[in-house]
Amino acid sequence: MCGIVGAVAQRNIVSVLIEGLRRLEYRGYDSCGVAVLDARGPTRARSVERVADLEGQVRDGNLEGVTGIAHTRWATHGAPVTDNAHPIFSRDALALVHNGIIENYEGLREMLRGKGYEFISQTDTEVIAHLIHSLYRGDLFAAVRAAVAQLHGAYAIAVLHKDQPHTVVGARQGSPLVVGLGEGENFLASDALALAGSTERFIFLEEGDVCELSLDGVRIADRQGEAAQREVRQVAAYGGAVELGPYRHFMQKEIFEQPRAITDTIAQTDAFDASIFGEGAGQVFADIDSLLILACGTSYYSGLTAKYWLESLARIPTQVEIASEYRYRESVPNPKSLVVVISQSGETADTLAALKHAQGLGHKHTLAICNVGTSAMVRQTELSFLTHAGREIGVASTKAFTTQLVALFTLAATLAKLRGRLNDEQEADYLKQLRHLPAALNSVLALEPQIIAWSEEFSRKEHALFLGRGMHYPIALEGALKLKEISYIHAEAYPAGELKHGPLALVTEAMPVVTVAPNDALLEKLKSNIQEVRARGGQLYVFADADTKIVNGEGLHVIRMPEHYGLLSPILHVVPLQLLAYHTACARGTDVDKPRNLAKSVTVE
Ligand code: F6R
Repeated sequence: MCGIVGAVAQRNIVSVLIEGLRRLEYRGYDSCGVAVLDARGPTRARSVERVADLEGQVRDGNLEGVTGIAHTRWATHGAPVTDNAHPIFSRDALALVHNGIIENYEGLREMLRGKGYEFISQTDTEVIAHLIHSLYRGDLFAAVRAAVAQLHGAYAIAVLHKDQPHTVVGARQGSPLVVGLGEGENFLASDALALAGSTERFIFLEEGDVCELSLDGVRIADRQGEAAQREVRQVAAYGGAVELGPYRHFMQKEIFEQPRAITDTIAQTDAFDASIFGEGAGQVFADIDSLLILACGTSYYSGLTAKYWLESLARIPTQVEIASEYRYRESVPNPKSLVVVISQSGETADTLAALKHAQGLGHKHTLAICNVGTSAMVRQTELSFLTHAGREIGVASTKAFTTQLVALFTLAATLAKLRGRLNDEQEADYLKQLRHLPAALNSVLALEPQIIAWSEEFSRKEHALFLGRGMHYPIALEGALKLKEISYIHAEAYPAGELKHGPLALVTEAMPVVTVAPNDALLEKLKSNIQEVRARGGQLYVFADADTKIVNGEGLHVIRMPEHYGLLSPILHVVPLQLLAYHTACARGTDVDKPRNLAKSVTVE
C-alpha cells in the first residue's frame, strides 16, 4: 500500500528517497514519485511504472536536492495515472505526499475552489496540499497543524514548501509515520524499514502528532498543539533487502521458510507460561472470562482456527470477529474479555481501529499477536506475542499465518494450564508436538511435485470449492482465499456439512472440490460429504491424512499427508493449499508476489 519517504540533509538526498521507495515496493503500489526543493521551488518526477522507471527519470532529468519527499501510491481516489501520482503540488510552491483517505475532501474542495484553487488531480490528497498552502503564513509547521485540524479520515503526510528549503513537515492520524534521526540530517517514513541504511534511531509518532524536520533536529507537537517529547528507539533489525535465493517468487520462499519461522516462534516457549505474553500477563489471564479476537483476512482465519483450540483446550468462550465489521457495529462490551488483535503487519487500519474501538468501549485487557515488534498494534496493546516469521514480502500471507497459529495454540495451552485443564504430562506432550512441527512441515513440503501435477489441472478452471470440517473449516477458507488472491480463480469455502444446504447445486464435472481430510472425529462425516460430491459427478481433490483410508478412484484424487497431527493438524493442512494456490498461479502466469489490486499492508480503511 502507499509508502512515504522524506529527508532533510546537506547532501543530495535523491538516492536515499529512491532506495526508501524500493524497500517499500513489496507492499504493492501502482504509481510512484519524488520531489526535491531547489532554488526555484519543488521539482518532481512521477511514474505509473515501477520505482526503477522513476529512478531512470530522476537520473535522466538530473533531479537533485538536499530536501525531498517521495511516495508509492496505491490508488483509492482517482485512477493510477501520472496526474494522480504523488507528490501533489499546490501552486508550484508546496509539495505533498499522503497515505490514507480524507473523508471530507469534497466539502474542502468546494471551499478551496471558492478561494481560487484549481484542482488538477482526482485525488483526495490535493485538498490537503491546497489547504496547507492556503493557510501558509511563513511557517509550514503552523500551517500543517491548522490544516490537519480540518481533516476527517486517516492520513500520514509529508510536506515541503519552497520558502523553507531545509524543512520537511509530517503529520499522522490513523496511518503510521516514523521519524529517523541522523547526524546533521533527518528522515521521515511510513515504515522504519524504508530508512534502513540511513539510521537506526527512530521516533514512532503518535496519533495526532505533527513534526518538523530540519537539519539539526526535530520538533513535535501533539494533537493539542503542545510540544511533545517522544521516546527515541534504537531499531537495528532492519538489515538489508531480503534476497530471493533459489526461489522463483517470495511467496514460494516464504512457504518453504515455514519450518524455520515456526522454530523461531517457539524458541521462547520452554513451558506454557503466561510471561511469554508480557509482563503482567498472569494477572490479566486470571482476570478474564472470555476472549474477543479481532482481525482481517488471513489473520481472521487464524483467529477462527484458534477458537476451536481455546474453547476445547482452555474451555474459555471465544468470539472471533472481522475487525472492519466490529468497529462499526453496536456490540455489548465485556470488560472481563481479553481483546486479541492478530496482524502480520500490526498496521492494518481496520484492526487498529477495532482495537481502539474496543478500548473506547471499556475493554481494558488487550493482546497483540503480531509479526512486527515496532508496529502500532504492539505499541497500543497491554500484552503482545511476536511471531518471528521474519519479513513477509509476498502479498499473500503464508508463514505469517502458520506462525500466528503457533502463537494462538500457545495462548490456548497457556490459558488451559492456568485454568487447571492441562496437566504436566499433557503440557510436555504439546511442547513436544510443537517442537516436532518443523520436521512434520518439511514432510508436507516434500509433497510439492504432486501438487504441481494438480495445479496444471486447476489452472484451466474458473471456479473451485473448498471443504473442511471443524477446526479445518478455517483452513479451507484460507485455501480458497489464497487461490483467489493470486490465481484469480473464483473460490469459495464451506464447512462440508453445509454442502447440501446450498453449494451442492454448483457441483458439476467442471467444479474441482478441494477437501481437507484429517483423520479426526469428523472423518466419517466428511467421507459422506465426499460421496455426496462424487454422486453428482464432482471432481474431488483430497488432502487426506495417511490413516484415513481415502484412496484414489473415479472423480477422487488423493494426496496423502503424514499421519494425523492431533490439535496442531490445521498448521500442516494449510501448507498444501498454499502450494496449490502458488503453483496454479504460476501456471496461469500471474504476478504472484504482487497480485492485482492488492497491497501488503492495508493502512487505509
Ligand atoms: C491474505 C492476506 C490478507 C491479510 C489482511 C490482514 O493473504 O495477507 O488477507 O491477512 O490484510 O493483514 P494483517 O495480518 O497485516 O493485519
